[in-house]
Amino acid sequence: MSSNTLYADRRARLAAQLGTGGIAIIPTAPERPRNRDSDFLYRHDSYFYYLTGFTEPHATLVITADGETTLFCQPKDLEREVWDGIRLGPEAAPAALGLSRALSSADLAAQMPKLLENRSTVWYPFAIHSGLEGRVDGWLQSVRARVRYGALCPDQQRDLCSLLDEMRLVKDAHEQAVMRRASAISAGAHIRAMQRSAAMLRAGQEVREYHLDAELLHEFRQHGSQYPAYGSIVAGGANACVLHYRADTALIRDGDLVLIDAGCELDGYASDITRTFPANGTFTGPQRALYELVLASQDAAVAATKAGARFVDPHEATVAVLAQGLLDVGLLDKNKVGHAQDVIANRSYFQFYMHRTGHWLGMDVHDCGSYVEPSQVGQISERKDPLSGELIKDRPSRILQPGMVLTIEPGLYVRPAPGVPEKFHNIGIRIEDDAIVTQTGCELITRGVPVKADEIEALMKG
Ligand code: GLY
Ligand code: MN
Ligand code: MN
Repeated sequence: MSSNTLYADRRARLAAQLGTGGIAIIPTAPERPRNRDSDFLYRHDSYFYYLTGFTEPHATLVITADGETTLFCQPKDLEREVWDGIRLGPEAAPAALGLSRALSSADLAAQMPKLLENRSTVWYPFAIHSGLEGRVDGWLQSVRARVRYGALCPDQQRDLCSLLDEMRLVKDAHEQAVMRRASAISAGAHIRAMQRSAAMLRAGQEVREYHLDAELLHEFRQHGSQYPAYGSIVAGGANACVLHYRADTALIRDGDLVLIDAGCELDGYASDITRTFPANGTFTGPQRALYELVLASQDAAVAATKAGARFVDPHEATVAVLAQGLLDVGLLDKNKVGHAQDVIANRSYFQFYMHRTGHWLGMDVHDCGSYVEPSQVGQISERKDPLSGELIKDRPSRILQPGMVLTIEPGLYVRPAPGVPEKFHNIGIRIEDDAIVTQTGCELITRGVPVKADEIEALMKG
């Protein structure tokens, strides 16, 4: 499928869901100032890109239920193009992007009331673009001013995310292919950082977290990734127990574990990998014991990931393995917390495992898509949380379908505390892979970087 057909097909599928008289407005992201006159590196809006493949700023797509598409984009401006780069421009855009027509973004305010006239429902992404609601209000006021001349004004506003989130949740063949490539680049970056860590320590050099971050960035850019998909975590020793730690300046010592959670973005799609490895290339006994436990819990989660299973199933499989393992290694005391089923029921594992086992992955690292099964939203059950005592309302978890992509990322984080054996203090481990759901199981697209302790040690040898 040519890329024009791909985006045109998505636009047509969206148009077919807008209902008679429906119109959808999808702006791209604004440029964002960083400081004084410097902007952050520009990143398009994911919904907009999903429907156009177009990465210039100052653009808005309008789709009507009959399938007509209008793009507002930056006009050609030879002087600005000298400074900021070539613009596609409204004349070339229809043919280049397969759209019905294109207009200058300078005409948006004047044209939108005309496009909205005689429509019934306006769809746009709610709570994404600050100020958009106000702009839509202004356009509708202009339409209303013409009602006495016989114009009809839309009388419904609806959240376009509800349609686009469902479309984006199941990745098509093109998306899966890009995500496989992004994952392969990220896997190579993890290998590079692991090998560099051991080599620097062997050479007697000082290793700091930013040295390994530099290796990741090098590998991402070397293979054409535009940027990291999120702020890379490179955490030496105890820093691995800080879940949202970022690559910083801390010294990585011989004997430490290093946790790296990093993935590149390639052509609009994220990858998200975590590996935890011994800085010098050899796990200590306690490090390996906990590593093997997290890996076993990940194996159980992978086995639970398949079409027809629920989104929560991998999490529950992980927790079952961790609960028993925490008792076996002595991080939890059976005399205090009981058996594995008590550890699960009372959430006693939460001291060491306090996050979920995965999330949707796609254009956004924490991608869109409901975690509740849409056909069962009305089925609410109530339970009391054993730790907070809070009453929680649960809805049935999403049923997995082929083409959904999610991460599988169990971990253990051991902060020093009374009763916690000292040999485990400050060990933080997470293992994260990205999975495409298939009919019979899942395809792990990030295993270009090994995950078994022996294989990690082997690739870190001199
Ligand atoms: N790197 C963000 C996450 O793992 O969810
Ligand atoms: Mn991650
Ligand atoms: Mn993740």
